[in-house]
Amino acid sequence: MPKRTLVTAALPYANGPLHLGHLAGAYLPSDLYVRYKRLTGADILFICGSDEHGVPITLAAEKAGVSPQDIVDRYHAQLKDAFDRMGVSFDYYGRTSSPTHHATSQEFFTKLHEKGVFKRKKDQQLFDAEAGRFLADRYVRGTCPVCANPDAYGDQCEKCGTSLSPAELKNPRSALTGSTPEYRETEHWYLPLGDLQPALEAWLADKTDWKPNVMGQVRSWLQQGLSDRAVTRDLDWGVPVPLPDAPGKVLYVWFDAPIGYISATREWAAAKGLPDAWKPYWQDADTDLLHFIGKDNIVFHCLMFPAMLQAHGNYVLPKNVPANEFLNLEGDKLSTSRNWAVWIHEYLDAFPADWLRYALGATLPETKDSDFSWKDFQNRVNGELADILGNFVFRTLSFTGRFFDGIVPELKDPSEADRAMLARIAQARDAAGAAYEAFRFRDAIAETLDLARAANQYFTQTEPWKTRTSNPQACANTLHVGVQVCAALSVLFDPVLPHTMPALRADLGLGTLPAWGEVAAGLIPAGSKVGAGAVLFPKVDDAAIQAQLDKLHVPTAPVGKPYAERGAEIGIEAFAASDLRVGTILEAERVPKSDRLLRFQVDLGYEKRQILSGVAAFFAPEQMVGKQVVVVANLKPRKMMGLESHGMILFAEDRDGTLHGVETAAEPGSLVK
Ligand code: 2FM
Ligand code: ZN
Repeated sequence: MPKRTLVTAALPYANGPLHLGHLAGAYLPSDLYVRYKRLTGADILFICGSDEHGVPITLAAEKAGVSPQDIVDRYHAQLKDAFDRMGVSFDYYGRTSSPTHHATSQEFFTKLHEKGVFKRKKDQQLFDAEAGRFLADRYVRGTCPVCANPDAYGDQCEKCGTSLSPAELKNPRSALTGSTPEYRETEHWYLPLGDLQPALEAWLADKTDWKPNVMGQVRSWLQQGLSDRAVTRDLDWGVPVPLPDAPGKVLYVWFDAPIGYISATREWAAAKGLPDAWKPYWQDADTDLLHFIGKDNIVFHCLMFPAMLQAHGNYVLPKNVPANEFLNLEGDKLSTSRNWAVWIHEYLDAFPADWLRYALGATLPETKDSDFSWKDFQNRVNGELADILGNFVFRTLSFTGRFFDGIVPELKDPSEADRAMLARIAQARDAAGAAYEAFRFRDAIAETLDLARAANQYFTQTEPWKTRTSNPQACANTLHVGVQVCAALSVLFDPVLPHTMPALRADLGLGTLPAWGEVAAGLIPAGSKVGAGAVLFPKVDDAAIQAQLDKLHVPTAPVGKPYAERGAEIGIEAFAASDLRVGTILEAERVPKSDRLLRFQVDLGYEKRQILSGVAAFFAPEQMVGKQVVVVANLKPRKMMGLESHGMILFAEDRDGTLHGVETAAEPGSLVK
């Protein structure tokens, strides 16, 4: 046993609400593990926080038309609240926009810089001339060189999981303007992963207990050979590079985000009034550092961050990285943009957190992708939580209440069945404990439920309703044993059902939560008073499940910016300077190689115009033909994707960022004023 354990869960990007995929990847498994370990009495600290930098954030801000700070403030609060309500029991939930984090990641960078770790290189990088910006990471989209997915990101292909750099994409296009970017020279600091590979391999050599899905990915990376990775970016949102000769540059989000684990641990210590308390967790060799993540984060946690930690020299390295695979939903890949997702805040408006913790925990994608379906959720709640666990507890307590005045009877001359049932408690404890230790949470849950299942059978077989008159001591023994099993379950199920099990323990009069190792046959002494048993798990009906299914694919309520005034007042002259005209759309087509632009031919009454609009995501070309729209007619012509656009068609953007047409029945050429 290590002296202490530090558990981190991947810092979620603060660019959207928490969904089921997040929970299945990193947060439920880590919380199950931590709650179990706390029960064993381990010194364990559980750290997470919001990842508030990087292109995912700035893209979300641009889409919503607000500042990145607005985005992260909104979603940081939402994420924190959703974790809380789900019972994910972080000791500290930080955020990477915090001053501590900026200072910690700058110190880290400076240390590596001073040790001469980085290579400084001039390089050609993609630049969007229309927007006047370098295109880092997700600002470039294009065709994946591995699987030909036409919508791969500049840092990763989400289809095949390959990690990429923008230059590797075929047919690159700018996510900002849709235009084809050009190469311009810029300078960056690189982590020389190739040079660091031997040290990484030496560190990985004894990691024989890592999950095969994780080690497989790591080996394949190493086999390809690691290459230098830029750890700075030309962006204006992020942690500024702490060097005088790097103006306008910030740390790469994957450089600063994992350091966020350290910053958050520091903040945890400071909040406790023990500012040095974070150090042993990061610097004492007798610490097990565990990173819980989803499979798309493997390279960063198994190679890049460890290389950074090794190069730094003052930190422990991960002992294990129990990454999960992906979760599908109703047999289909999760997709937040198609709203093929279960949003946790919406789930929690319909059902208790514990039901999802159980149902999802039982189907976690631990070694391969797995599927969540609402039908399975219903079956697990009704058929397992209610019919097995809830039913057993209810039978035992209500019987004890009715026929023994709620007083736990004494065990005398136990039968073979009584003894076997009591022995089963410690067996279940050990089997579930071993599964938790090995990050096999599905098995841990199955082992625990098996104890309840066996207890139900025991109750049925010993027939206390008959022995009550035929053999009162046998009846007393059944109830004595039953109550012990209830007590054991109230502890063994605590990691999974942290909201429900305290209620059961209260009913049993178990005041203090026993340690995992104490869970055995005698938790409740004979003579104790127990409650009459309440229904722990009401059943989920078909209508409630159908309501969830109906929500899939339907756009969620707008989470976009609230409507508000927008800018300074203008005089009537400023407005009158625009020549707004009614035009009829004669033709509409997609612009090849752009997933944003549509090309329109518009009749303005007095002339025909070609106008390009970035609305392809909202309208099919054929649906636009014949529409009477409003055009800014005196806008200077400009080029997009090499095509001239003369004028601008007006659309209304709602707070969700969705565009709607602005249409009129007036004839082409009419003045809008
Ligand atoms: O993939 C993600 O959602 C990242 N925000 C995870 C970061 S984990 C850590 F390094 F902070
Ligand atoms: Zn691909």
